[in-house]
Amino acid sequence: MLEQHNYNYYVLSAPTISDFEFDKMMRELQELETAHPEFDDPDSPTHRVGSDLSKEFEQVEHTYPMLSLGNTYSEEEVLDFYERTARSLNEPFEIVAELKYDGTSISLIYKKGRLVRAVTRGDGVRGDDVTANVKTIRSIPLRLRGTGYPEEFEIRGEVLLPWAEFDRLNKEREAQEEPLFANPRNAASGTLKLQNPALVASRKLDAYFYYLLGEQLPAESHYENLQAARAWGFKIPDVMRKCHSAKEVFEYIAHWDVERKNLPVATDGIVLKVNSLRQQRNLGFTAKSPRWAIAYKFQAERAETRLNSVSFQVGRTGTVTPVANLEPVLLAGTVVKRASLHNADIIEGLDLHLGDQVYVEKGGEIIPKIVGVNMDARSLLLGDKVRFVRTCPECGTPLVRQEGEAAYYCPNELGCPPQIKGKIIHFVTRKAMNINMGPETVEDLYEAGLVHDVADLYTLREQDLVMLERWAEKSARNLIRSLEESRQVPFERVLFGLGIRYVGETVAKRLAAAFHSIEALGKATFEELTAVDEIGDRIARSVLDYFADEKNRTLIARLKEYGLRMAIDEGTLAERSDKLSGLTIVISGTFARHSRDEYKAMIERNGGKNSGSVSGKTDYILAGENMGPAKLEKAAKLGVKIIHEDEFLKMLE
Ligand code: IVH
Repeated sequence: MLEQHNYNYYVLSAPTISDFEFDKMMRELQELETAHPEFDDPDSPTHRVGSDLSKEFEQVEHTYPMLSLGNTYSEEEVLDFYERTARSLNEPFEIVAELKYDGTSISLIYKKGRLVRAVTRGDGVRGDDVTANVKTIRSIPLRLRGTGYPEEFEIRGEVLLPWAEFDRLNKEREAQEEPLFANPRNAASGTLKLQNPALVASRKLDAYFYYLLGEQLPAESHYENLQAARAWGFKIPDVMRKCHSAKEVFEYIAHWDVERKNLPVATDGIVLKVNSLRQQRNLGFTAKSPRWAIAYKFQAERAETRLNSVSFQVGRTGTVTPVANLEPVLLAGTVVKRASLHNADIIEGLDLHLGDQVYVEKGGEIIPKIVGVNMDARSLLLGDKVRFVRTCPECGTPLVRQEGEAAYYCPNELGCPPQIKGKIIHFVTRKAMNINMGPETVEDLYEAGLVHDVADLYTLREQDLVMLERWAEKSARNLIRSLEESRQVPFERVLFGLGIRYVGETVAKRLAAAFHSIEALGKATFEELTAVDEIGDRIARSVLDYFADEKNRTLIARLKEYGLRMAIDEGTLAERSDKLSGLTIVISGTFARHSRDEYKAMIERNGGKNSGSVSGKTDYILAGENMGPAKLEKAAKLGVKIIHEDEFLKMLE
């Protein structure tokens, strides 16, 4: 039954129960399986959350090599392909037109209706066995539906990270100053190669299938085989078309070149395949690719412009990001002045020189990127070669690079101005200490020599502030009051505010809940840290490094002295419960008995989750006065239960 709901949701995109009900059933099944291991089944949907931790991928040989397709950007060559096929076959034929999905290819092997193995393309002959990771992709059937599938077969398709997930992931990485994924394809292949299936599961990959292989396939044509595979539970794109003329093929291309921009996943072209398997066999293969198929790639939008300079920006945690400053140029409807250069390896690979005419592309990426240099336009007066800086452009400290990471960073955490200012700006943000000051104020205070670190904020006096330009008595008083109030901010937000690398809001909450105080956290071992849910090696190492540094320990001691909360409140600890565990609640309107923030805190203390917008995942709306009409309408449409404050408080009694 769970598999049915899973299929409804992930393959048909038409769930019949709420996510909450689904998750509840999943939890019940998990409990049942724990209590009765004799019922455990390797295909159970509970295994989708991913639990077996593989340290290295095993390499396996493909039964049928994974070939690539002949590529073209020219419609003329598409016509050549069509006419060549017609001449070789010399009989009527059909062409199936499909979208070319821009992810990472995967081959799945099913035996007796069960997924037994998932292998990446690798070098085409052998690939990585990534079965554990692939099992976390909810739209991939672990066990097939219906009947009529061959005893054993292979199905190939593309693993994709939908745009929405890609954006979410990159925002999260940006906030953590982790290197961004350049496009959903890199994000998908990077995710599939992670050594932690639980982390893979959290990234919400999807998979579309386009090629069925085996000895006893249900039909003698590609199109019909895929229709059968759809009935077995695979996500087969429903935009494939059978074409009977070159004209129909070009209509398909023209339509999807525009329409693809509205799809939830990235595509980079279309694929044309001869439909009949007999005809495919007649046409055969070249050494690299089938003669019965071709890929037509959509032109990415590209412009040529001059590279004026390259700047290196230093972020709050010291990460150095290279940015190309360009002569402004119009590209896909917007004026582009800057482009991402990602990292040192990319700069090296491009062999960039200042003054070069460069090609800028806006493909699937949000930020335009430089894809090449127009070598013909290079003058004899070649500009300087662009090199990634070796020392910090802000403080001169030699940069370091962590093993296995592409980014360089400046290790002078406490002496590098943008890092110092960045740390203070982060500390005062609303989600951390919520101190009433903007980045310009931080700049002013730093320039005036009044603050060098976050603890210095608590030494500020009204009389120091009024001495500064633009500071009136009133704003000075407000800031002092705001600082005063920040001493009441709960521990998890103080912890977040410290700006420890990789310790974002959620991680800070988890660490606070697990260790209760900064003292205990500072003493935690690697094993104790990684034992906490969702705390991996990388975060653990970063926390250990942070506390190993004497200067950080001194800073914490000072903050403690100034009265900041360095432990969870014993009161809150006692008030904790799991009465709202598994529930997602949206707060809307204004309330009589407690403030919105108090209600938010209550939800969290009792194991619930706050959310800002009503969706299929919402279990309750806690509604006060003046709830917005849009929210009300959406709640009614989704059938979300609305509760009022008295009811809510009763739930917690
Ligand atoms: S068919 C022998 N169909 O493009 C033919 N491939 O260079 C096997 N791809 O490696 C591939 N969408 O990763 C096929 N509708 C589609 C596709 C598709 C994307 C990818 C696939 C393959 C590459 C071809």
